[in-house]
Amino acid sequence: LVRHLATTMPGEAGHLLADAPDSPPVFDAARFAHLSTAGDPLVLELLSAITLPLAEMILRLFTLDPEVEHLILNGGVVRALGQAYHRPLLAHLERLGMYQVTASDPEFFRRRVVLDDTGDDSALLGCGWLATSRLRQTALQPLCDCQAVRVLSAAKAVAYAVHETTASLDRCNDALATLADAPACGVVVIDSQVEQHFGERVRAYFAGRGAAPSFVVLPCTEQTKTLQKVEQVVRSLDAAKARRRTPIIAIGGGVLLDIVGMAASQYRRGTPYVRVPTTLLAMVDAAMGAKVGVNFDGRKSRLGFYYPPTAVLIDRAFLTMLPERHMGNGLAEILKIALMLDAELVAMLERHGRELIAERFQSQVGGRVIRRATLLMLDQLEPNLWEANLDRVVDFGHSFSPAVEMAAVEDLLHGEAVAIDMVLSSTIAWRRGMIERTDWDRIVALVAALGLPLTHPCCEPGLLWRGLQDTVLHRDGRQRLPMPTAIGQSAFCNDVTFAEVEEACRDVQALQSRHGNP
Ligand SMILES: NC(=O)c1ccc[n+]([C@@H]2O[C@H](COP(=O)([O-])OP(=O)(O)OC[C@H]3O[C@@H](n4cnc5c(N)ncnc54)[C@H](O)[C@@H]3O)[C@@H](O)[C@H]2O)c1
Ligand SMILES: [Zn+2]
Repeated sequence: LVRHLATTMPGEAGHLLADAPDSPPVFDAARFAHLSTAGDPLVLELLSAITLPLAEMILRLFTLDPEVEHLILNGGVVRALGQAYHRPLLAHLERLGMYQVTASDPEFFRRRVVLDDTGDDSALLGCGWLATSRLRQTALQPLCDCQAVRVLSAAKAVAYAVHETTASLDRCNDALATLADAPACGVVVIDSQVEQHFGERVRAYFAGRGAAPSFVVLPCTEQTKTLQKVEQVVRSLDAAKARRRTPIIAIGGGVLLDIVGMAASQYRRGTPYVRVPTTLLAMVDAAMGAKVGVNFDGRKSRLGFYYPPTAVLIDRAFLTMLPERHMGNGLAEILKIALMLDAELVAMLERHGRELIAERFQSQVGGRVIRRATLLMLDQLEPNLWEANLDRVVDFGHSFSPAVEMAAVEDLLHGEAVAIDMVLSSTIAWRRGMIERTDWDRIVALVAALGLPLTHPCCEPGLLWRGLQDTVLHRDGRQRLPMPTAIGQSAFCNDVTFAEVEEACRDVQALQSRHGNP
């Protein structure tokens, strides 16, 4: 059509074709898409005309079933034109509207009608394949040269509650006893620091409930978050004659929870466990989701499972004995989710961050910040617990950081590596024009104000780039970098280059000398 127009009315439409030297003018999709962004009236009219029939079809589909979660468009046209095609399509859908739906939910189509630039194979197999589990669909695909005897399909429902309490170790507080199934409770695995500060009270609490669990005291560090530690827990479970259906109680920070979760996932092919997080980081992050894991061969969380707990019990009182550095460590994960999703929470951190560290989150504001961060996190995790969708905003700060954390494992805590990654990613976003300079300044100033590092001597472009390549494997072949586009807003990038990482590295080093924490 474009070629036809350009030849029949060259004066008005000639610019739509790219002039290739020594050959007839050709249609150039990239140029066409660019002209659409630039607002070329003829291009906009053409796109509007070709997307209208599709919009009408989609509207009919949603009218038949308004609960369709995603309608995924793919194939060659989508790949070539991208947003240039998506924009007019959505404009039609929003203009046409859907009876009794779009008036109260104007974003209805914007959320549901999405583009996916996967290859033609997946287009052939159907977009449904993308929307549901790929594995299951593969099983259902007929194979040549063999016959499926039967297809097995089973699902396991997951439900676990995240509870909040105060003074969980007071004898009159029932929460822990109920979750631990006291007096049956058989094994408590506890971090050695927590044992030092709270061990006596934990023992007295269980004794007061008529329970006599075995206590396994585990010194926990990132360096020893290994399979050997998992084996050690398994041996202790055997020694304690742990029962198959009685929950193991895990009391500690993210490292202990990950190790016990790994042991529980494998012990008798799965034994229930309850998480009692005792660090800020674990309360707002590590205790929330389904993931458990250990480091392997110097690689961060290389081995692990999705094995949710039976319950989580949060008690801020554990934070009273936590060293200051670990407060900043947890705040980094709070900042991560706030920068992606919640401008108001960012403002709360700007206003109260320093005092929250000093008072160990014991005030009302502390409670509100933890509650808000946990709910944001759970909102993100619940619809994607098994990570079928690898575009995850909660991965902000976790793209370059696994390599940084392992390279500087003696120096940096998990949250500190996350902070370094957030500053680097935000700098790339600013250099790309995705985020305003003032917002970038705010992010950097807040990271510094929370006592978190902006960079580390190990952060040279080569290491960061190799780290990103490993993350790309983890994210199934694409970068899927969550980036801030404003405070509390985000988008994904898939085309960050080595040169951009190099430039951002230089910027961050300059920042470090201005703002930096030692
Ligand atoms: N599974 C997940 O989804 C997930 C998510 C985020 C982080 N993580 C993991 O969590 C780990 C980091 O967790 P962390 O920051 O809690 O580290 P951590 O478990 O090492 O705890 C930090 C330190 O504080 C001590 N400690 C714990 N509770 C204490 C208390 N109440 N009072 C005094 N000292 C206390 C510990 O002994 C340790 O020395 C990393 O390995 C990270 O990969 C996992
Ligand atoms: Zn993290």
